[in-house]
Amino acid sequence: MTRRTLIAPSLLAADFARPREEAAAAEAAGADWLHLDVMDGHFVPNISFGPLLIRALRPHCRLPFDVHLMIAPVDPYIAAFAEAGANWMSVHYEACRHLHRSLELIAHHGMKPGVVINPATPVEVIVPILSMVHHVLVMSVNPGFGGQSFIPFSLTKIQRLKELRHELGLSYRIEVDGGIAHDTIALVVEAGAELLVAGNAVFGAGNPERDARSLLRAARDASALS
Ligand code: DX5
Ligand code: ZN
Repeated sequence: MTRRTLIAPSLLAADFARPREEAAAAEAAGADWLHLDVMDGHFVPNISFGPLLIRALRPHCRLPFDVHLMIAPVDPYIAAFAEAGANWMSVHYEACRHLHRSLELIAHHGMKPGVVINPATPVEVIVPILSMVHHVLVMSVNPGFGGQSFIPFSLTKIQRLKELRHELGLSYRIEVDGGIAHDTIALVVEAGAELLVAGNAVFGAGNPERDARSLLRAARDASALS
């Protein structure tokens, strides 16, 4: 099956004084959805924003919201993010003591459940829950900060997830997050990633519309060749 390659700008790298305008620029550039990084200063060593910002943005952006939760615990906050307007919700294998329950709860609240694995976490540990998820997010940097360098062995994990999807007859999508830019985008697409999160490469130079557009073009070129 051919899957369309999609780009999700990560708002984490945007100008936080103008989130509405930054989201609009990403939308105008043809981004497919908006990636929202929620950090608690506990599971990851940084604090970003929570459901209040997501709720405030929701009426001003037509893109689906892909909420990446980097918090622990997760379960007590799932309903609040659903009410705020999240469409997809990704939770870390490393943050969920009862991952199966958390994924069920996400689906129960009408969101598409996704599981995230850190760079040091092998793909094999999530095999039992792969049939429950809409997407698997491979972290290609350690979570917590934008602008870090891509970790090359993430490519092997993306390839393994693609093989497993075939072997198990499943249809989850493969997402990658961290260090995605012009120098890494073809590599991740060739490895099998279809959902590409990019923060700095979209917002870092102050022209998100231009930069999201050129990244999207590079991703689609790579996907046409692979
Ligand atoms: C990191 C976040 C990423 C981050 C990516 O913990 O999950 O979404 O914004 O930023 P870049 O694309 O700059 O590596
Ligand atoms: Zn993220």
